[in-house]
Amino acid sequence: MESVLPVPWAPGAKPVVGHLPEFLRAPLAFLRGLPEHGPLVEIRLAHKPVVVVCDPELTRTVLLHDRVFDKGGPLFERLREAGGQGLATCPAAEHRRQRRLMQPAFHQARFPHYARIMTERISAVVGGWQDGRTLDLAVEARNITADIVLSTVFGTSLDPGLHKRLAADFDTLLAGFTRHSLLPRPLRKVPTPGNVRYEEATRRVRRSMADLTAAYRERAADGDGEETSLLSMLIAARDPESDTPALTDDELVDQAVTMYSAGTETTAGAVNWGLYLAATHPAVHARLTAEVNEVLGGRTAGWDDLPRLTYTRQVFTEALRMYPPGWFLTRQTETDTRLGGYPLPKGTTLAYSPYLISHLPDLYPDPQRFDPDRWDAHGAGGTRPQIPVTVFGGGARKCIGDEFSQIEGVLLLASLLSHWRIHLHRDSLSVPRLPQLTLNPGRMRVTLTAHVRETV
Ligand code: HEM
Repeated sequence: MESVLPVPWAPGAKPVVGHLPEFLRAPLAFLRGLPEHGPLVEIRLAHKPVVVVCDPELTRTVLLHDRVFDKGGPLFERLREAGGQGLATCPAAEHRRQRRLMQPAFHQARFPHYARIMTERISAVVGGWQDGRTLDLAVEARNITADIVLSTVFGTSLDPGLHKRLAADFDTLLAGFTRHSLLPRPLRKVPTPGNVRYEEATRRVRRSMADLTAAYRERAADGDGEETSLLSMLIAARDPESDTPALTDDELVDQAVTMYSAGTETTAGAVNWGLYLAATHPAVHARLTAEVNEVLGGRTAGWDDLPRLTYTRQVFTEALRMYPPGWFLTRQTETDTRLGGYPLPKGTTLAYSPYLISHLPDLYPDPQRFDPDRWDAHGAGGTRPQIPVTVFGGGARKCIGDEFSQIEGVLLLASLLSHWRIHLHRDSLSVPRLPQLTLNPGRMRVTLTAHVRETV
């Protein structure tokens, strides 16, 4: 029956601050607790009311009606400050045109080429580590995925100094996003060291990206025939009606920033969770390393290995379910509408949470249990869906890099384990109290030792 009542409030809101302290202190437990209050639940993050969608079907409805539930709300306002109006942040009215331009870069036919770049970059880093070394895998995995995104977006010849600078600025930027998006506007402008660092990093990233795009245009104009990259495809794209470039320089920068931010932390985090979860579940670890050793025998994984790395893929997928990198995403209603029978006036901020959905016991029994066999395509359930619901979003705004990141994740996870025995320093793991834009392990120290392989 259609309700005339407003969406119910989650209990426990404090005067002025609402649910913000609870959300900051233990956001994941807070989200897991919301579905018991209804399919839609309103929370208050300080001054800002947000309707959280706690039901998979209603989440689907939101995702399928992207013109009514458009990108908006505090998260996307902040993302636009850094990423402009790129594919992930632009409003629905602009989205279809951009998606048409970008889609060819993510066509199936391009994956073997991308996989070759992935294998090469992974080999260059992972193969170069020394026996006995201790390192922070959170940093290293992010460097590798950043390298891979930059190599596929800009081609493989990026200056190493620039690469380093960009990576450092992105770190500052991504670390600041969520906290920044929760602060009321006046507080964001206070020149605290954190705010200043964040603003400066945003400016520097946009400047570096603009320089890169300009240099690329020059080389392309000189007929310097480089390999096809995402950027070269976008630069070459022309508006069929006016026969002018389809994207302005500013728009190209927006797309580059978008790809870098969307494609770096996400995959790196999921790989690290996969390693962490496997390391803390000995039976899974044994099966995983047995598969990797049998298929790779110490090599870096490549495109042709993927069909045989089935258990590695299951582990990666289960890590994605348990800690989905995009964990809390906002929308804004563009018109007065109804959802699940509840009236939602125009301008309502909603949030959907892949984390919340992938911990619903009806969908995933015993959801806190790490069980890669949920994704066994030949298991008791017969043919099963191969990715957790909403982890890559859905509808027209579904992640354009979903397949890319799954290939990358499996190749990276398998290659790390193929080259090294990885000893996790369990107490080093710091899950940030407030997850950042993505849900990554904040720090993950490991010590590497070489495999002892029998020679025949
Ligand atoms: C494990 C890795 C990844 C996860 C879990 C993930 C997750 C997501 C999610 C949930 C969305 C939808 C956001 C929303 O509804 O507001 C999204 C969109 C997007 N992702 Fe990913 N992503 C991953 C990797 C990547 C990679 C590697 C790239 C690029 C190379 C990428 C590029 C994008 C872009 C451009 C969008 C916006 C798509 C659109 O609006 O048309 N992502 N991603």
